[in-house]
Amino acid sequence: MDAAIHIDNVHKHYGSLHALKGMSLTIEKGEFFGLLGPNGAGKSTLINIIAGLTRMDSGQVSVMGQDVVSNYRQSRRRIGVVPQELVYDPFFSVREILQIQAGYFGKGKQSTGWIDSLLEGLKLTDKADANMRTLSGGMKRRVLIAQALVHKPDVVILDEPTAGVDVELRSSLWEFVKALHNDGHTIVLTTHYLEEAESLCQRIAIINHGKLVALDSKESLLARGVGMTCAVSVTLAEPLNNIPDDLLTKIKSVDGEKIEFILNRGTDNIMSLVDCLRDLGAEILDLRTEDADLEDVFMELTGQRST
Ligand SMILES: Nc1ncnc2c1ncn2[C@@H]1O[C@H](COP(=O)(O)OP(=O)(O)OP(=O)(O)O)[C@@H](O)[C@H]1O
Ligand SMILES: [Mg+2]
Repeated sequence: MDAAIHIDNVHKHYGSLHALKGMSLTIEKGEFFGLLGPNGAGKSTLINIIAGLTRMDSGQVSVMGQDVVSNYRQSRRRIGVVPQELVYDPFFSVREILQIQAGYFGKGKQSTGWIDSLLEGLKLTDKADANMRTLSGGMKRRVLIAQALVHKPDVVILDEPTAGVDVELRSSLWEFVKALHNDGHTIVLTTHYLEEAESLCQRIAIINHGKLVALDSKESLLARGVGMTCAVSVTLAEPLNNIPDDLLTKIKSVDGEKIEFILNRGTDNIMSLVDCLRDLGAEILDLRTEDADLEDVFMELTGQRST
């Protein structure tokens, strides 16, 4: 059985920058796969190589068994990519853009019904005849999604699809993507909203500095977090000023007098945190520990927050 996407020892340089350092990864058919990593990790570079938009220095990539370099046209037909950048032609209406894209894949006239259902599924029917440049950022992104799906590709790759999309539209977008997955499409998603990856993805890869740092089922990654780290939520009498650097690295979020810490079970403990806060003159009103979430695991593996 061919995998949906097979990536073998891919290297990519931009000048002296080594953006991908021997990336290998296999995504199975029908998976809902998450590709996570901090800014600059190499996610879009990898996606653009899979889509045949960026040339790799060495290595091999295939989509549904078709090599992305030697069988570019066949591999390209199997894949729909929603790019991170909002690139579009400002002179056409939404429907025209989709018709042109369908024509490009040799699916001109027969795709009218499918284009209508894409417009409906993505809540774009009202905007079908609007010019692209008159649409909001979130609307443009949905047109890019429709554009990626116009040729009914087996594999759909979404590079930050919800950036700039409001909460309500985001949830309708996810309903749409979930339906695609239920119909048998393989979905690959990058996002900085880890709660989205946590609720949608079955397996997750975390990359950092062009290397794979974790590849596992979501459950195993979360279980790993439970073993490694411990989230501690503290409410102080007053917000803390001048937090020292060694404490700052352990903070996940600050909301006024509420601070969330991620402690490493190997090197930190709650009592030393309490002592440290007291030394800073803070009065602790409440302290509770929580199960690790994907954000905690991400921070542990990459040393950075996801957003
Ligand atoms: N066309 C390019 N020319 C030069 N450097 C590039 C180019 N594209 C990406 N890079 C660099 O390669 C590295 C990886 O970038 P990439 O866009 O793949 O990261 P990313 O994981 O998608 O990040 P983000 O989460 O910010 O989208 C970064 O250091 C980036 O600056
Ligand atoms: Mg990117």
